[in-house]
Amino acid sequence: MAHLRCSAPECGITLELHARALACPRCGDLLEVAIDAVESDPQDLKKLWIERRSSYDRLDASGVWRFREFLPRYDAGQVVTMPEGNVPLIRAQRAAEWAGLRNLWFKHLGWNPTGSFKDLGMTAGMTEAKFAGAGMVACASTGNTAASLAAYAARAGLIARVYLPAGQASANKLAQAIDFGAEVIEIEGSFDDALEILLDSRDPDLYFLNSINPFRIEGQKTAMFELLEQFKWEIPDYVVVPGGNLGNSSAFGKAFKELKSFGLIDRLPRMVIVQAAGANPLARLWRSDSRQFEAVKYPETIATAIRIGNPRSWKKALRAIELTDGMAIDVTDEEIGEAKETIGRDGIGCEPASATTLAGLRKLVAAGIVDRDAVVAAVLTGHALKDTEYIIRSRKKLELRDATGVHG
Ligand code: F0G
Repeated sequence: MAHLRCSAPECGITLELHARALACPRCGDLLEVAIDAVESDPQDLKKLWIERRSSYDRLDASGVWRFREFLPRYDAGQVVTMPEGNVPLIRAQRAAEWAGLRNLWFKHLGWNPTGSFKDLGMTAGMTEAKFAGAGMVACASTGNTAASLAAYAARAGLIARVYLPAGQASANKLAQAIDFGAEVIEIEGSFDDALEILLDSRDPDLYFLNSINPFRIEGQKTAMFELLEQFKWEIPDYVVVPGGNLGNSSAFGKAFKELKSFGLIDRLPRMVIVQAAGANPLARLWRSDSRQFEAVKYPETIATAIRIGNPRSWKKALRAIELTDGMAIDVTDEEIGEAKETIGRDGIGCEPASATTLAGLRKLVAAGIVDRDAVVAAVLTGHALKDTEYIIRSRKKLELRDATGVHG
């Protein structure tokens, strides 16, 4: 039976799985789900997970729940699923060349039901919300969590309320939240302000579904189970992921740790977290000698999904890069723009935040840190249609550049 545990290794306090808590009652750190025992043999599990891909069973058909041996247990009827996951691993062409790599793959989590990786976490979070008897679910969001929460709440028959930084979420994401029937509250200020207001409200009727909710992390970690399965359990050298509130990178770190400790893999890929230069508290911490965390007060980047200055899961993410011998870096808006354009030319497309991965890789290859022959998986987190305004604006900029002959 799984339980909740404080994520600080030096604390380790445990709570009942469904305690409906987000923070450790002793030290205040974030909680995580501890999976106590996985009884099956690793080879049998790998075979079972693949077999489920050809099943129409409700849980087997989900790319999250087919890995349910590593998830909190529910009856099949209690699970809120679309289904989600089972997204392809796509070989990069021009993008690989642009970054200077020979073996680059994209894991496109934007090809999920609402167009972002949030659906992987939301199926697990919403299932727990329903199980816990919640009537209303809420989150603060830069847009994607809001869209995903609204959709899954609609499926679950729960009321959804989303807090967005006014004028900062893309119109496409806002439209999704409205379409799925969420109540939208716009906050003057940043995502960090919106999250703080929501957390401070301490409304007992609200079930809280940001990524500090440990059940969200459980769903999101399965992206790495699926990725490694697609690599036939041969471990890539690097997994590269954008960093915002740092829930996703925390989830991936947890996946690697659990897969190793239960004997499914024997080494770990190095995880690289890429932030936007204007919203880069983890990259700054990683560069500094003191390793002190300092929030960025006024985060700024064209990649609105990751315009976050005070990521709540930074400690979990830091532990994940330490565990995997990884790193945290940052890239400028200009680099993000070029990388996004390149991914588009590969016929794949993504939203700006996702393009941080390719921009970061180009930098790391140029600096001689990542070898040209390394096997690399870059995680694309959001669909190209998530921010169409950005694409149209950048086209106008390109036209202007070509007309005036001013480059750079
Ligand atoms: N990429 C996309 C497309 C995102 O929407 C987000 C976060 C991230 C990357 C960063 O992931 O926060 O786990 O480090 N979006 C959140 C939202 C904050 O509200 O939609 P993270």
